[in-house]
Amino acid sequence: MALRNIVKFGDDILRKKCREVTVFDDKLWVLLDDMYETMQSASGVGLAAPQVGILRRVCVIDVGEGPIELINPVITSIRGKQRAVEGCLSAPGQWGYVTRPAKVKVTAQNRYGKEVKYEGTELLARAFCHEIDHLNGVIFTDLADEMVENEE
Ligand code: CO
Repeated sequence: MALRNIVKFGDDILRKKCREVTVFDDKLWVLLDDMYETMQSASGVGLAAPQVGILRRVCVIDVGEGPIELINPVITSIRGKQRAVEGCLSAPGQWGYVTRPAKVKVTAQNRYGKEVKYEGTELLARAFCHEIDHLNGVIFTDLADEMVENEE
């Protein structure tokens, strides 16, 4: 495994729509492993492939409940609302309030191409939305209604 360079806000790559993954091979597995290691090393709870310069529909999430790998994820259901402070590994030091669904259901594929389903509330629901937004070129500052001062 290897750490990958995280693309920062302002880079055009974060504004592109990612393509579906059609080949579930060892190249994808290396990408997933590298992304997970990169995310952990940066103390993040989620990372999307465009953040490491890859325009494919891939993200990794770990909100402290174990690793989740999402390939070609689709949000199938949302319920309620939550508003909380959010950040992004592509925007060190930037934080803002974003309103997200309180509960989110996601269908995706795992690294072998098998269908997987997840359900999340609180931080996990937020992470699903934030990372899937990245696959469509959307970043959290597009949605934030209020930015907060950096305390780091
Ligand atoms: Co992000």
